[in-house]
Amino acid sequence: MSETATRGGVLAVRPTGSALGAEIRDLDLSASLTPDQTAQVRQAMLDYGVVFFRDQKLNDEELVRFTAYFGKPVPHVRKQRPRRVKEIFLISNIMEDGEPIGELGDELIPFHSDLSYLKRPGTLSVLYAIELPAIGGQTQWCDCTAAYAALSDAMKEKIKGMRAVHRHPVEAQNPAAHIAHPIVRTQPETGQCSLYVGPHLTSYVADVDSAESDALLTELYSHIEQPQFIWTHEWRIGDIVLFDNRPTMHRRLAFPPDQRRLMKRTQIFNDEIPV
Ligand code: SIN
Repeated sequence: MSETATRGGVLAVRPTGSALGAEIRDLDLSASLTPDQTAQVRQAMLDYGVVFFRDQKLNDEELVRFTAYFGKPVPHVRKQRPRRVKEIFLISNIMEDGEPIGELGDELIPFHSDLSYLKRPGTLSVLYAIELPAIGGQTQWCDCTAAYAALSDAMKEKIKGMRAVHRHPVEAQNPAAHIAHPIVRTQPETGQCSLYVGPHLTSYVADVDSAESDALLTELYSHIEQPQFIWTHEWRIGDIVLFDNRPTMHRRLAFPPDQRRLMKRTQIFNDEIPV
């Protein structure tokens, strides 16, 4: 898709020029979207994996309403402090009364697809930037469809039909059962195949010994993390990013612990089993 002007109801979609990602301009997400606008935003997300909107001002209900155009937003599985709008998950290192107001601190969070340790993991997520550090804290997305396509035929053949178990590094976050997903996942709306393993949440390859599992995952991770598959989002306050967890992974870069960062996140999961 190329850049188009906002004329005749056609949204302005401007690709980043990197592996994935596009900016959609001139759309106020605090207002209701028409079915046609919703369809165009969804199509841009399918085309680019990640879409972002600058200079947004939404209250919590409006953020949930925007998310609901694309599926059913649900509260995150992780417990958070009581809050008025339960579908909103706070990602933050900010402390209040001696406790963090949100999750995920200030350190690097390696590549992952949201909630992949669940049987029905994240399909889509939305991030809304409220407070940002002066340095660091960027989020990088990886195009796992392009990464899969660039594998050798021998590797594609090797991983065909293989599955990997996903576990959250904090054991208490996990369901009792070890959940295995295909290493190559098909996005049901586009039919495209993507790699679905990442260093944060993938634990081991099923049905092989640990040496083979470690060797295979190390090889796939170093393939996925090549710069040609990655786009870095330089956040600005008011940015809203909508992304598809099925053909992409993301990682959050570290930032100084004495600087504040607050993101509001909504998430859609519990609706698809990866195939
Ligand atoms: C995440 O890993 O889901 C958090 C991304 C971010 O805070 O930028």
